[in-house]
Amino acid sequence: MNLQQAELPEPSADARAASEALTRLIGAEIAVDGGWISFARYMELALYAPGLGYYSGGSRKFGVEGDFLTAPELTPLFGQALARQVAQVLAASSPLVIEAGAGSGRLAADLLPALAALGCAPERYRILELSGELRARQQATLAEHAPQFFDRVEWLDELPQRFSGCLIGNEVLDAMPTHALRWSDDSSQPGVLERGVVLADGRLTFAERPATGALLAAANSLPVTAPYRGEISLAARSWISELARRLERGAMLLIDYGLPRHELYHPERDGSSLRCHYRHRVHDDPLWFPGLSDITSHVDFTAVAEAGFDAGLEVLGYTSQANFLINCGVGELLQEGKAMHNDSQEVGAGVLCMPGTPLRGPATANMEDLRARGAVNVLISPNEMGELFKVIALGRGVPEPLLGFSRGNRVHAL
Ligand SMILES: C[S@@+](CC[C@H](N)C(=O)[O-])C[C@H]1O[C@@H](n2cnc3c(N)ncnc32)[C@H](O)[C@@H]1O
Repeated sequence: MNLQQAELPEPSADARAASEALTRLIGAEIAVDGGWISFARYMELALYAPGLGYYSGGSRKFGVEGDFLTAPELTPLFGQALARQVAQVLAASSPLVIEAGAGSGRLAADLLPALAALGCAPERYRILELSGELRARQQATLAEHAPQFFDRVEWLDELPQRFSGCLIGNEVLDAMPTHALRWSDDSSQPGVLERGVVLADGRLTFAERPATGALLAAANSLPVTAPYRGEISLAARSWISELARRLERGAMLLIDYGLPRHELYHPERDGSSLRCHYRHRVHDDPLWFPGLSDITSHVDFTAVAEAGFDAGLEVLGYTSQANFLINCGVGELLQEGKAMHNDSQEVGAGVLCMPGTPLRGPATANMEDLRARGAVNVLISPNEMGELFKVIALGRGVPEPLLGFSRGNRVHAL
């Protein structure tokens, strides 16, 4: 156990038992596959194995009581600002929104009323979600917080065949399985090595093999000098290609943390970008209690742009989350005092006092205002999410410029 793990809260007996069951399942797959599975397959099982994976199991995940906070969980102003960009895309395409990876359903519950207030409530809001447990949670969130729109929402079992409209995905790409690699200059084993997972003495541990096929080709195309460690998500690339091919008119807006390729694979960033979240602590051991931590990796936004471009889409914009939200008017929305979730005084509580010191006493208007300012500060501050998170728009048949990229568009940096 390293120092970081020593500082992690001890999992409950139930959580340990669920993790042990998942470890047995992963171990069985390793055995069937000849003693080794890729890290990408491990991550897929750790996050999405039915009933046991991090996203498919019953843990709280999002919000103050979960493991991490995402932008829509922080404040409804995120969804309200995003709505302005979505409205522009819908007006130029078709009244359909598809949300990929809708988490708790919070963004949908904020976006639908915000779009209605802008006079462009979509006729259909379709959700693409891998986790059955999260689907149920999204249904409950929407039934409770946006019941007037519930009958417009549908859950998809597979990617849409063809579609026009606006597809959105907040923090979805970073949650897709990624391959882990080491570019080695060891005289004993030089070249590109793929890091995978084996079972040794009953414990999951990393083991390397020479990379082959599409992964090796992708690794060789990167500006990397050995020795170096990093990740490549072939799954994210093919997911974007598939969706891009099916988009007839409209745009995909993807928000995530990551960098353009030349920055992500810069020699100074040698080391894995894998990060795990457990009870608002970040650690770097994805093999620690499989199924209990979220596992993420940084997004290569150049690869995202290339995947869209190769499938015939234009890169309509790329900028920081801060620029995007400011361009979409988050400042004005804050001034107008639209910071309350349309139903609740409690959502977003804790933002000002993370980590660990819950606010006490009734929320006053001033307190709500302070919370809203604190949340927007987290969204746009360069030291928080403002620079780390980026927004990319890929589209077809949509007139430019898009509102969110009107200032500070960095497409040239990709
Ligand atoms: C980090 S969470 C973000 C949730 C939500 N968008 C938010 O911002 O709070 C990642 C989400 O992406 C979903 N997900 C991951 N891969 C997916 C895929 N290929 N298709 C659809 N959903 C996916 C997960 O199940 C989960 O809901």
